[in-house]
Amino acid sequence: MRGRIPDSFIDDLLARVDIVDVIERRVPLKKAGREWTARCPFHDERSPSFYVSPVKQFFHCFGCGAHGSAIKFLMDYERLEFLDAVEELAQAVGLKVPHESDDARPREDRTDLYGILDAAAAWFQRELPNSPAAQAYCRKRGLDAETLQRFRIGWAPAGWDGLLRALGTTSERLALLDQAGLIASGERGKRYDRFRERLMFPILDRRGRVIAFGGRIISSANPAREDPQAGAPARTSQQGDGPKYLNSPETPLFHKGRELFALWQVKQANVRLARLLVVEGYMDVIALHQHGLPIAVATLGTSTSAEHAELLFRAAPDVYFCFDGDKAGRAAAWRALESVLPRLRDGRQALFLFLPEGEDPDSLVRKEGKAGFEQRLQSAMPLSEYFFEELGRDVNLTSLDGRARLAERARPLLAKLPDGAFRDLMQQELSRRTGVRSAAGVNETAPRTLPRAIAKRSLVRGVIALLLAQPGLAEQAVPPYPFAALNKPGVDLLIELLELARARPGISTASLLEHFTGRPEAAALQKLAVVEFPADSDKLREEFADALIQLARQTVAARISELTGRQAESGLSDAEKAELRELLAAKGRH
Ligand code: UTP
Ligand code: MN
Repeated sequence: MRGRIPDSFIDDLLARVDIVDVIERRVPLKKAGREWTARCPFHDERSPSFYVSPVKQFFHCFGCGAHGSAIKFLMDYERLEFLDAVEELAQAVGLKVPHESDDARPREDRTDLYGILDAAAAWFQRELPNSPAAQAYCRKRGLDAETLQRFRIGWAPAGWDGLLRALGTTSERLALLDQAGLIASGERGKRYDRFRERLMFPILDRRGRVIAFGGRIISSANPAREDPQAGAPARTSQQGDGPKYLNSPETPLFHKGRELFALWQVKQANVRLARLLVVEGYMDVIALHQHGLPIAVATLGTSTSAEHAELLFRAAPDVYFCFDGDKAGRAAAWRALESVLPRLRDGRQALFLFLPEGEDPDSLVRKEGKAGFEQRLQSAMPLSEYFFEELGRDVNLTSLDGRARLAERARPLLAKLPDGAFRDLMQQELSRRTGVRSAAGVNETAPRTLPRAIAKRSLVRGVIALLLAQPGLAEQAVPPYPFAALNKPGVDLLIELLELARARPGISTASLLEHFTGRPEAAALQKLAVVEFPADSDKLREEFADALIQLARQTVAARISELTGRQAESGLSDAEKAELRELLAAKGRH
């Protein structure tokens, strides 16, 4: 991934960007001495252990160990690929990302993959008016023209090779269609369209790019299927043309556990989002949007994952989960609750809405309109209520045993909640209901220990730590480095760092570290980079110079002992004898 952008560009980019800016725009920061701090966005915590250093230009969390440059922050926080993060930062500071010509191709492929998916969506859209059956179906489901447009709904016609012939014109494009999950291969390698005779719903990513499709059959082979009000058939029912909904397979661009259908449309429709509504189906989402509730998203035939939960709460503080009132719906709701618990920081709220049996959001919003559905949302159950109701379902709370059982069931679940007021309140509520006091101290967080100095740091590691604290120190070390011959761990790394820093005056710590991304040394370097030194740079310079001298001495001493050792065993060549005399004399002079 990374080799395709010249290192020098990454250096330039990181020199122009201020990481405090980049992070502050996403996570509110507080000043703390020379650094900025916040509660870590990458794990749940009560007191801040997330630090951003304007000097080193990196972030570091003492709680979970997350760390890195502005690029890494964007990758982790916005879930971007390296190249996308670079592009986003570059855009913000008005730089154009150069791509090294020799291996620009793979990157092109990726763009082409988005391209072919977009072309497929356009082709399906163009096919829709050509199918009277598809059009009749859309009418029957009440989809208006604006909705068809907004969701880019299309039609995959019958036949085995419509899309294949339209887009698979070269072997490269065939390969792309295959990679994009748009075609499948038969037993003898014969390729054919994956989606046939299906109403097509493009799935878009966070930037509005098509990354996959869901396709619904409209055939009337099974009448129950035709009538949305008649209750949905089993999800796995394989009938005639396969499942009712067929989704794209996992591809390099599509991981269904991570995507939410219509999140893009929701974001387009709302500048500020106060709430999101999670429903089960494509059609539910679409009907809600069409009826004036453009806050609905759907998971793609999977239950709500932890990744979904995080994505949802990043988009809005209040998340409503909507389920069927039947047994399957209740089970799905509980799974969603479990995924959500660890993400419920203060300020986030999850609510549960159960629908009458036989109805889904699609059917309800058509019957009751926006106002009716709003009313249902108003009466949704807060997670706390649902939690205790569900856990206490078959428990007799008037008996001691029953209350003990409730306490036992609740405890491990409440332990999943992040520290905060909400967790405390839930503990209190549990005590109130059961009379069992929560074990004291369980939710106390261990005091944070700042590794202010790294214990028993070796000399080499010490020099590296100094250099990372202030890369400009590298100017003081001039090659040939007298310690280059020292056979100790870390020396080669030190030299590499010196060379990098010398070639790039003014480089920041984060930029320097960025060069080691993906290398085994990266973790150790990060640890050393966190070490704090006094701000006095004269003092640092002195310490650095001293350390270099010590390194040189160690090198001489090591060489002397090597030569004297060999002298005793096997004798030395004349040149070596001369070298040893020289070294001993030099040592005497110090
Ligand atoms: P439902 O079967 O409840 O259908 O599936 P629905 O959303 O009400 O659809 P309509 O109204 O009959 O058109 C709910 C969701 O489960 C996934 C889809 O994401 C669907 O929207 N699903 C369902 C599949 O992935 N495959 C299937 O075969 C069925
Ligand atoms: Mn439905």
